[in-house]
Amino acid sequence: MTTNLHQRQQQQPPPLADPYPLSPRSPAATAHQNPAAAAALFKRSTLLVLLSLLIILGVLFPYSGNPNIFSSVVGRGGGSTDLKWREYTLSEAAAFVGKNGTVIVCAVSQPYLPFLNNWLISVARRGHHEKVLVIAEDYATLYRVNRKWPGHAVLVPPAPDAQTAHKFGSQGFFNFTSRRPRHLLNILELGYNVMYNDVDMVWVADPFPYLKGNHDVYFTDDMAAPLDHPHALPPPGKKGRTYICSCMVFLRPTDGAKLVMKKWIEELKDQPWSKTKKSNDQPAFNWALNKTADQVDLYLLPQAAFPSGGLYFKNQTWVQETKGMHVIIHNNYITGFEKKIKRFHEFGLWLVDDYINESPLGRL
Ligand SMILES: *[C@@H]1O[C@H](CO)[C@@H](O)[C@H](O)[C@H]1NC(C)=O
Ligand SMILES: *[C@@H]1O[C@H](CO)[C@@H](O)[C@H](O)[C@H]1NC(C)=O
Ligand SMILES: *[C@@H]1O[C@H](CO)[C@@H](O)[C@H](O)[C@H]1NC(C)=O
Ligand SMILES: *[C@@H]1O[C@H](CO)[C@@H](O)[C@H](O)[C@H]1NC(C)=O
Repeated sequence: MTTNLHQRQQQQPPPLADPYPLSPRSPAATAHQNPAAAAALFKRSTLLVLLSLLIILGVLFPYSGNPNIFSSVVGRGGGSTDLKWREYTLSEAAAFVGKNGTVIVCAVSQPYLPFLNNWLISVARRGHHEKVLVIAEDYATLYRVNRKWPGHAVLVPPAPDAQTAHKFGSQGFFNFTSRRPRHLLNILELGYNVMYNDVDMVWVADPFPYLKGNHDVYFTDDMAAPLDHPHALPPPGKKGRTYICSCMVFLRPTDGAKLVMKKWIEELKDQPWSKTKKSNDQPAFNWALNKTADQVDLYLLPQAAFPSGGLYFKNQTWVQETKGMHVIIHNNYITGFEKKIKRFHEFGLWLVDDYINESPLGRL
C-alpha cells in the first residue's frame, strides 16, 4: 500500500488543454526579405513568446506573483477546459494532490467560497496547501477553483441541489453533508490518509505533528472537556451519545477507519432528515463511533489544540489558560455567514481581506 502510494505521488499534473502553442513558428524564413515585415514579425513573435511564458507561469505557478494570470488568459468562460474538469475523477484528483500518501479535503458549495479562501490561506501558511483537494458540490465551484488552481477541485456526481445545499438544518443541508462519509470512504479505498476540514476553520499552527501514533480515526470534541482529558472516545452526554465534531477528522486507510465511514453512512440512512428533527450529519457520526468503538482504534485530539467555537470565541478564561496551544480554530456555535465572518474579523482570523495574495485561488 505504502509503496503504491509513493509511486502515485510522481504523477503528472492533470491533463489541461493548452489552447495556445508554446513554440510559435520561427519567422526567420521570411524575415530577411523585408525589414519592415521582419520588424513586425519580430514584435509578434516576441509577444507570442511573452504570452506563452505567461501561460506557462499560469500553469506551473498559478498563484505566485499575479494570481490572476491563469484565469485572465484562459479563464473567462474557459469552456473547453471546464468540460475537461467534468470528467476529472476522484482517483485522478487524489493522485494529483496527494503527498506522502495524504490528502486534505474539504467539501464546498458556491456560497462557501470566501470561507474556502480564508481557510486555504491559513493552510498555505503551514505549507500544506498542495495536498488540498476541494470536493466541489456544484459545477460553478468545480470550474472556479480549477480555473485558478488547476487540478485541486473535483466533483463527485451527482451534484446535489445547489439552491438548498447551504441552509443549515434544511433537508438540502442534510443531503449535502450526507455525502461527506461517502467521499471520505472513497478516498480511503484509494489508499490515502485523509484529513477532512470544514472551511469555517483557520489553522493557526500545523496540525500534523498532533496526529501521533497509528490510530484509525482522529477527531475532536465539540463539548468542553477538562484540559487533561484522555484520548479515548469520551463517555456519552445528555442525549446518550457523544458530541464529537464531524468538522475535522483524520483517517488512515485502515479497515477500522473504513468501518467507521460505512457505519456513518448506515446511520444516516437509518435516521433520515425530518422536519421535526432537522438534524445534520453529526449525530450519525457519533452513533457510528459509539457502535464501532470496540473494533476501531479511536483517538480524541487535545481540545486545547482543536477547540470548538464555543470555547475559543466565548470563554476568555479558557483561552488564557490554553494560550499558545491552539492549532485549528473552528468558527462554530454560531450560524449565518455574516455572523461567522464578523466573528472571524473581530478575532483577527478573517484573512481574505489583507492576505488574499497568499491564497492559491487569489481573489475569487
Ligand atoms: C513527507 O514526509 C516527510 C517525512 O515525514 C517530510 O519530511 C516531508 O516534509 C513530507 N512532505 C510533505 C509534502 O508533506
Ligand atoms: C434529499 O435527498 C432525498 C433522498 O435522496 C431526496 O428525495 C430529496 O429530494 C433531497 N432533497 C433536497 C432538498 O435536496
Ligand atoms: C454507546 O452508547 C450507549 C448508549 O448511550 C452507552 O450505554 C454506551 O456506553 C456507549 N458505548 C461507548 C463505547 O461509548
Ligand atoms: C470557561 O473555561 C473555564 C476554564 O476551562 C471553565 O472552568 C469554565 O467552566 C468555562 N465557562 C463556561 C461558561 O463554560
